[in-house]
Amino acid sequence: MAQVMLTGDRPTGPLHLGHYYGSLRARLQYQEDPEVDTFVLLADAQAYTDHADRPEQVQQNVLEVALDYLAVGIDMDRTTVFVQSQVPEIHELFVYFLNLIPLDMVLGNPTVKTEIEQKGMKQESPPAGFAMYPVHQAGDILVVKGEIVPVGDDQNPMIELARGIARRFNQAYGDVFPEPHAVTPRGGRLPGISGGAKASKTLGNAIYLGDSADEVSQKVNSMYTDPGHVRVEDPGKVEGNVVFAYLDAFDPRQSEVEQLKAQYEHGGLGDVALKSRLSEVLDGLLSPIRKRRAEFAKDPGQVMRYLAEGTKRTRAIAGQTIDEVRAAMRLDYF
Ligand code: TRP
Repeated sequence: MAQVMLTGDRPTGPLHLGHYYGSLRARLQYQEDPEVDTFVLLADAQAYTDHADRPEQVQQNVLEVALDYLAVGIDMDRTTVFVQSQVPEIHELFVYFLNLIPLDMVLGNPTVKTEIEQKGMKQESPPAGFAMYPVHQAGDILVVKGEIVPVGDDQNPMIELARGIARRFNQAYGDVFPEPHAVTPRGGRLPGISGGAKASKTLGNAIYLGDSADEVSQKVNSMYTDPGHVRVEDPGKVEGNVVFAYLDAFDPRQSEVEQLKAQYEHGGLGDVALKSRLSEVLDGLLSPIRKRRAEFAKDPGQVMRYLAEGTKRTRAIAGQTIDEVRAAMRLDYF
């Protein structure tokens, strides 16, 4: 039997290079694998856990993120793309799953803790749904019996939790779920342009897939490098240098990148030259994406039809899962 891949995004803003590096690339590879059934969800209900007061923004971004998917090469005939809120079976699983894990494990989730700080939510009392979203996310994955979950490494605790829930469910009620695992990129997470934190919508330090060539080169020019590297002939630091992190992630000529690093550390390579290489590399990656995005954006009705179709396909599978779950839990009265 084919394995199932599932991953997704919160539609709170357009996607950026951190998403491309963290998970879009992997999705495209699985899409080509005949042994893997691929699912991608637009996690609009999860977006409401911190955007409850901005429904228009979430709704608009469902379309924007779907366009990002199409632009990078997600083929909605081969990858089932669906809208989370419209699959009520996920919400039902969420309710059952809440009973399978201790409250402290949910409250101790390191990613949720960081997000609470970054978003400036009151430490004492973020929305209850926000603290619980990792449990709902386990529902996203398990409703289609997902096993392979390509994500950025900040999502590792979420996938661990889903594994634990699957295991506890199977122990308590009998084998229904596979145990999912995360697939993360080798190099860890992509930093934001100003260094330090990861690239993020919330922090506004990312290069978006839809950014124009000018915006991209402006952002590249403002990237954090090494403040001690003042003149071209000065030796510079590669560690923590955002331009090198992006070249590592996206430059197809990796052996040249290694040479550039050596030259930079030795002295004699200026930031201007380095940044202009990166701008070219990113333009090579993003210009076909930008073109395809503009093409698909001409027909938003077609994009919504794809999502409706994907949601319908998902519900058919989700319905089977829920039947098995209710039977296993003895909640199948009538
Ligand atoms: N929490 C993920 C993020 O913020 C998005 C997401 C929702 C997700 N449901 C998922 C990722 C299920 C993987 C699997 O990026």
